[in-house]
Amino acid sequence: MRVTSCTALDEHTQWDIRTLIAACNQSDGTYNELYLSNRFNAYPEMDAFFLLWDGNRLVGVLDLDADNTVCAEVSAYVLPEARGRGGFRTLIAAACRELERFRYSKLLFQTEQAFPDRMAIVAWLGATFEEAEELMLCHPPRRHRTPAPDVRPGTTEDFAALRALHIAAFGSTPDVAARYIGQSLRSTTTDLLVAELDGQIAGCGCIDHSGERPLIFGMCVTPSCRRQGVGRRLMQTLLAGTSRWAPPDMPTALYVSPQNEPARALYRSCGFETVSVYEYYAVPLARLRDV
Ligand SMILES: CC(C)(COP(=O)(O)OP(=O)(O)OC[C@H]1O[C@@H](n2cnc3c(N)ncnc32)[C@H](O)[C@@H]1OP(=O)(O)O)[C@@H](O)C(=O)NCCC(=O)NCCS
Repeated sequence: MRVTSCTALDEHTQWDIRTLIAACNQSDGTYNELYLSNRFNAYPEMDAFFLLWDGNRLVGVLDLDADNTVCAEVSAYVLPEARGRGGFRTLIAAACRELERFRYSKLLFQTEQAFPDRMAIVAWLGATFEEAEELMLCHPPRRHRTPAPDVRPGTTEDFAALRALHIAAFGSTPDVAARYIGQSLRSTTTDLLVAELDGQIAGCGCIDHSGERPLIFGMCVTPSCRRQGVGRRLMQTLLAGTSRWAPPDMPTALYVSPQNEPARALYRSCGFETVSVYEYYAVPLARLRDV
């Protein structure tokens, strides 16, 4: 088996990856969908996709999600029938070489609680639990909403206000906030919506439609404007927009920390339900040198 790597994927390869992940999800009882873009990565020139081939057949994939310069999140899939032949080891080794080239020091291995073999892999990596995250889905018909009148598409003129909002709400560094806002405003597959209160920007949220399920991310409201329905109006408008691209029976997804009770309460009240719990296990990159 051999590995190739790249910074961007053509449509044909994206399709092959989606088919591969669907087969893994079906076999493992998991839910993940990879978002196949490196646009939020700190280094656009760093390879983010590692493809495992058996002859001409794609049998595995590893994705690096690295929005900062220290720690990269890793998600990997190997087809059930290709497991037990060192494919994951080969993928991890290739990804670690690339991360070392960019001086990363830590890797966060992403897995789902439903994945039966996760603890064996975590033990083999020598990784330790760092945090959990819930995948929530909103199924139709609750997905179908009417847009709120005080929510509008963001524009480049909003950039400075949105970056400040992102920093205040998520504690992001200015660099990371600028990348999320700038890339989302520029993207043709993401809508960034802005909510106003008394004529001022009070919140924003994004929806990405490059994958199978629409994905909501970056929902935030200025601390002084919370508990006034801004988050709910943003969510209502984001959900209203999903019918433009997603098939009518497709759920809308988002990720949230189990500790983020305000956000979970908002999402539950808008019709989202938790369908899977993700776990992140940390390992210093140096420890993986000899895998
Ligand atoms: C999560 C967040 C966007 C909510 O925005 P908001 O404008 O305050 O939300 P709303 O006023 O529209 O609240 C709608 C419902 O959500 C729930 N809710 C919101 N904040 C809550 C809180 N602090 N405690 C409990 N429930 C809360 C309530 O059910 C509320 O309805 P109610 O006010 O009628 O009881 C905001 O708290 C925020 O920006 N947090 C920091 C960024 C963040 O964590 N984003 C989520 C990333 S996944």
